[in-house]
Amino acid sequence: MWFFNQMCTSKARLDGKTVVITGASCGIGKETARDLYGRGARVILACRNMEKTNKAVEDIKNNPPPGITKDEYLNNVGELAIYCLELSSLKSVRDCAKKIIKHEAAIHILVNNAGVAAHQDNKTEDGIEMTLQVNYLGHFLFTILLIPKMQSSSCRIVNVSSLTYITANIDFDDINMERVSPLARYARTKLANILFTKELARRLKEANINGINVYSLHPGMISTNISRYANESIFYGFSFLFDMLSRLFGKTIVQGAQTTIYCSIDEEVANQTGLYYVNCGVSNTYLKANDHQCAEKLWHASCRLLHLEPDENFTTFLETVSRQML
Ligand SMILES: NC(=O)c1ccc[n+]([C@@H]2O[C@H](COP(=O)([O-])OP(=O)(O)OC[C@H]3O[C@@H](n4cnc5c(N)ncnc54)[C@H](OP(=O)(O)O)[C@@H]3O)[C@@H](O)[C@H]2O)c1
Repeated sequence: MWFFNQMCTSKARLDGKTVVITGASCGIGKETARDLYGRGARVILACRNMEKTNKAVEDIKNNPPPGITKDEYLNNVGELAIYCLELSSLKSVRDCAKKIIKHEAAIHILVNNAGVAAHQDNKTEDGIEMTLQVNYLGHFLFTILLIPKMQSSSCRIVNVSSLTYITANIDFDDINMERVSPLARYARTKLANILFTKELARRLKEANINGINVYSLHPGMISTNISRYANESIFYGFSFLFDMLSRLFGKTIVQGAQTTIYCSIDEEVANQTGLYYVNCGVSNTYLKANDHQCAEKLWHASCRLLHLEPDENFTTFLETVSRQML
């Protein structure tokens, strides 16, 4: 609820740092971009709708986050750039990663924020269930491709999950979610975000790649566009109901971005990795999210879906994927 909301209190500056945020054209991603841009970062908005993202850039440039005067803001901002990323196309994911690697000197923070919920039965051009690819598999590939670029400096990877993970399980006999309802699909992909965070942190540690920390989080319940497909896939009026409940009992979008910002910059969590955060603090995970065997099995299943060779040597894996995909 909004009155339990914690704000990120860090005063950290990000001058000279580069941040990539997926799905920054609206909602939590846009507010995260505004905050990090205000701290001096070069913020890359990795988005699919150029017209909408250009409008977001104008809005971010002209409107400071609450509590900062316009002058103070304009004197301290970084840079904004847009890269095209359509997560429902693995080709677009590869192309976007390729361009970032070619044109950017470094990446210090990667925020995997883009998401869809309650999408109707729909497969992507890659034959993968839409929610699975947008919320999880596309980000899996994007992250793996960008890690070599991140190894040169101290970096954070932030995966935006959701508390709905608690209702989910991973059914490895139906990994492409053919027999799953739209809402359950969303919850499953959000569980996958947490399992990916834990498994990636473990693999990075095992490979002695110490500069990259990985975080997952629940942002809260926020009135955004996230429920936009629910009227068709669940029942007419669901979107309105979600919006009303979020406005009454949830957080504002600025509040909803705080845990993402906290995981991205706060000094308190600089030495943590593989953990899950709620309300700007570390939180326990429950049920399937604590199943390390499931996390490992999901890693292998994800590699199979993406046609990647799941080499147990993580450094070799990164090299092979980059060679194969870029
Ligand atoms: N709002 C909540 O209550 C809530 C609760 C828990 C977790 N979350 C998580 O928070 C994250 C942000 O969601 P939000 O609430 O800010 O929702 P939102 O306002 O709908 O924003 C979602 C973002 O993802 C982008 N996106 C959707 N499909 C995409 C695709 N195929 N390729 C690339 N980008 C795509 C959207 O771009 P377009 O505008 O072009 O579609 C938009 O920028 C999501 O991961 C969501 O699961 C939200």
